[in-house]
Amino acid sequence: MNFPGTPRLVLREMVEADLDDFAALLGDPQVMRYYPRPRTRAETLEWITRNRTRYREDGHGLWTMRLRDGDVFAGDCGLTVQRVDGVDELELGYHVVPALQRTGLATEAARACRDWARTALGAGRVIAIIHPDNVASQRVALRAGLTLEKRTTGYGAGAEVLIFAAAL
Ligand SMILES: CC(C)(COP(=O)(O)OP(=O)(O)OC[C@H]1O[C@@H](n2cnc3c(N)ncnc32)[C@H](O)[C@@H]1OP(=O)(O)O)[C@@H](O)C(=O)NCCC(=O)NCCS
Repeated sequence: MNFPGTPRLVLREMVEADLDDFAALLGDPQVMRYYPRPRTRAETLEWITRNRTRYREDGHGLWTMRLRDGDVFAGDCGLTVQRVDGVDELELGYHVVPALQRTGLATEAARACRDWARTALGAGRVIAIIHPDNVASQRVALRAGLTLEKRTTGYGAGAEVLIFAAAL
């Protein structure tokens, strides 16, 4: 299977051996400040397993992202199916390690995943589900060509989220 790639980033399926990297990333309270709470190491392992199930069942999921230069762990980006207002949507997601934030990596990866959704999956639409206060994530969505479509409480536990969307 081909994965989205970018000038600076390699994306590949995540594996259990990525657990140390992801436990540090998703256990970081700053990285997870717009989530209910950081993930424990055990929850992060479940999350890796869930993404591996998505690869088998959906053909995609969140992928491990590494810098080409030095093969350094950079975070994750990818496409997952999420139910919003009763509809299954293709969501673009991303997390970048704090040391590499604000260097355009999330934007670069999000654009590549958006294009891959169209070319590899034939998807006609992609969304991003974003906390109303998460300005950085909203900037990434906008720079990847998504625009604000609606506010809704029809996702997950029912907290209000913003839905950004793009037709592909
Ligand atoms: C959201 C996140 C992935 C952005 O990653 P990044 O690689 O730093 O983003 P980029 O460098 O591509 O920057 C994209 C835009 O966001 C802006 N931005 C990045 N971090 C920001 C911050 N902390 N505050 C305000 N704006 C920010 C950049 O200035 C840039 O905007 P502009 O080019 O339009 O001026 C990163 O902050 C992160 O991992 N956050 C925690 C996880 C998270 O919230 N993920 C999204 C869940 S919906």
